[in-house]
Amino acid sequence: MERKRSNQSYEAFPMNGGDGQYSYAQNSNHQRTGADTIKHIAKEVILEILDLETLLQDSSKVFHIADLGCSVGPNTFFTVQNIIDAVNLTFQSQTHSIIDSSLEFQVFFDDHVGNDFNSRLNSLPDDKQYHATAMPGSFYGRLFPESSIHIFNSSYALHWLSNVPKEIVEKNSHAYDKGKIYFTSEVDKKVAEAYSAQFARNIESFLNFRALELVPGGV
Ligand SMILES: C[S@@+](CC[C@H](N)C(=O)[O-])C[C@H]1O[C@@H](n2cnc3c(N)ncnc32)[C@H](O)[C@@H]1O
Repeated sequence: MERKRSNQSYEAFPMNGGDGQYSYAQNSNHQRTGADTIKHIAKEVILEILDLETLLQDSSKVFHIADLGCSVGPNTFFTVQNIIDAVNLTFQSQTHSIIDSSLEFQVFFDDHVGNDFNSRLNSLPDDKQYHATAMPGSFYGRLFPESSIHIFNSSYALHWLSNVPKEIVEKNSHAYDKGKIYFTSEVDKKVAEAYSAQFARNIESFLNFRALELVPGGV
């Protein structure tokens, strides 16, 4: 059946839930490899940039991490654990004059409301070292209170646009795609430009909202 095309904001196409043969959980090894590949970069950045003494000065010792576009399946748990290990390492390597006991972590697992959050929360690791919270909503909108998150992560999710650009679906538009999915000619360049402009709008919203939500000095 043809899927109705729309240019409404925040189109959501959640991954297949559960853990069956065609679920995202069973079909996301490639994304897992990607997360493993950047693991050491994330660790280096956290060690280099995070100043925990300043970050936690005015607040409790609760450290907030958000994974945006967490989907279902285990990848988000590996990523989050890598971040926690790096923060703990940073914690050990920095002065403890203000911080005299261990950190507590709260992790927000964000995705579209249509994500299979039941599977997400049912599969939390038994030995997790954090308080887990589901955060439904688009990361192109406002998700968290101001200055409340210390580390944001997002893997394999930001290439999802919020919606199909309207020029693509309007029949009398210069960038109408005529239902095609592959474009080569100069005429079709308008289609690529429309998607590119949509990406620019989306990434700007994403960065503006994260700038508000990030604790100053966060990553
Ligand atoms: C390919 S999955 C990646 C999941 C996980 N991060 C990983 O690396 O395996 C992309 C996820 O991003 C989510 N997503 C796409 N656009 C989103 C948006 N605007 N807000 C929140 N989640 C979004 C999708 O619903 C999907 O679950």
